[in-house]
Amino acid sequence: MATTPEEVRPVTTQKPTATRPTDTGPLPVRGPGPVPVTLTVNGAEHRVDIEPRVSLLSALRDSLLLTGAKRGCDQGTCGACTVHVEGRRVLACLTLAIACEGRPITTVEGLADGDELHPMQREFIACDAFQCGYCTPGQIMSAVALLDEGHASDDDEIREWMSGNLCRCATYPHITAAIRAVRDTTSDPS
Ligand code: FES
Ligand code: FES
Repeated sequence: MATTPEEVRPVTTQKPTATRPTDTGPLPVRGPGPVPVTLTVNGAEHRVDIEPRVSLLSALRDSLLLTGAKRGCDQGTCGACTVHVEGRRVLACLTLAIACEGRPITTVEGLADGDELHPMQREFIACDAFQCGYCTPGQIMSAVALLDEGHASDDDEIREWMSGNLCRCATYPHITAAIRAVRDTTSDPS
């Protein structure tokens, strides 16, 4: 349908505000071109030159070559890109890398302790909790966070709090079993 002149969104000629006030004064302008960003991933600092619009997922995979976090939907619906930022699970495809400066990031590559797999990784193997494996890094990162959050009291709660992580191979019962196994072996029986 044709638009009348009144329906056309007015073009602003005002330049975007380059700074925003804070208690300590205006923040410096960064971007829109590549800027140096320091990311702390799995305990190591990395400096990358990226545009401020770059997602954490792209920075991890394309700049740091940490390809554990997977790009599934790239729009926040599948959970394949789940990583931890400051110990909390986030969708890396919806998180700006530049917003993670100074905040510790953990990816699935950082879960194991040397050759010793994280208990959740071990139970995913023991419970046969994957088929193609594409969703598995995100599932494991969510599962680890879920236990830390205290959302694993029963299978219903596990399913509810894992519902943001989709598995096209439908390994859900095995994923639930793996989480249950870690919960039962790590929780204090007293
Ligand atoms: S790739 Fe991030 S939620 Fe699907
Ligand atoms: S194991 Fe294939 S998508 Fe989950």
